[in-house]
Amino acid sequence: MTNSDIFGEVCVVVEELEVDVEDIRKANLKDIPESCRSCVYWESPEDFEKAKDEPQRKSEFESKKREWFEKTLEEFGTCGKIVYHNGKSVAYAQYASSARLPNINAYESKRVGKLEEGAVFLSCLYVAEGTMRGKGIGEMLLQNIVEDLRRRGFKAIETFTSRNSPDNPSGPMEFYVKRGFHIKDKTDPEFPLMRLFL
Ligand SMILES: CC(C)(COP(=O)(O)OP(=O)(O)OC[C@H]1O[C@@H](n2cnc3c(N)ncnc32)[C@H](O)[C@@H]1OP(=O)(O)O)[C@@H](O)C(=O)NCCC(=O)NCCS
Repeated sequence: MTNSDIFGEVCVVVEELEVDVEDIRKANLKDIPESCRSCVYWESPEDFEKAKDEPQRKSEFESKKREWFEKTLEEFGTCGKIVYHNGKSVAYAQYASSARLPNINAYESKRVGKLEEGAVFLSCLYVAEGTMRGKGIGEMLLQNIVEDLRRRGFKAIETFTSRNSPDNPSGPMEFYVKRGFHIKDKTDPEFPLMRLFL
């Protein structure tokens, strides 16, 4: 893996695949992968439920997501990344203070770290293109986020993982165990809270 040193925009070679990683900002919000662009699962659980029955309101939820990013960018700074391959977005990540992600409270595993303690919550790590999975993009994206948060002086990154299914906003538990995360709370054995000290 090789990196150029341009802050906020990095060109990386992952297993012979050339990809670009960009911080999410107002100008590239439109590049968030289609399935995530109007998803307000973490930001507004009530609206997420409504969206299931009212797909015609998609653009409304897309606006809410955009507003969430604009406010979080102002208050917290960089809170997401997009990975491009051949100019097309293929992967996406979102992270912020736990206070900005109210659906955290719906999980049985508790004790999610607070911003005052230097903890950041990873709400989504997603390689949207199925054919691009298993090529090291998820690992590279996670590493890019870890480096971003270290540079900004944060102390830990946390996420809920899934023990039995890869279909989880941030992915399966094994992926995080391999990257040095430990279990912080397993009140819900299916969705343990995992933490990595930065
Ligand atoms: C989980 C995910 C982010 C991992 O990214 P990736 O690019 O596919 O993973 P990588 O190629 O970087 O793999 C890194 C390591 O994690 C492991 N890993 C990846 N996915 C795994 C899985 N589903 N189960 C177990 N291990 C897994 C790989 O085996 C690899 O280990 P290795 O280095 O020892 O070979 C990606 O597969 C994904 O987005 N999956 C879909 C998840 C989903 O549906 N989310 C819903 C979003 S709302």
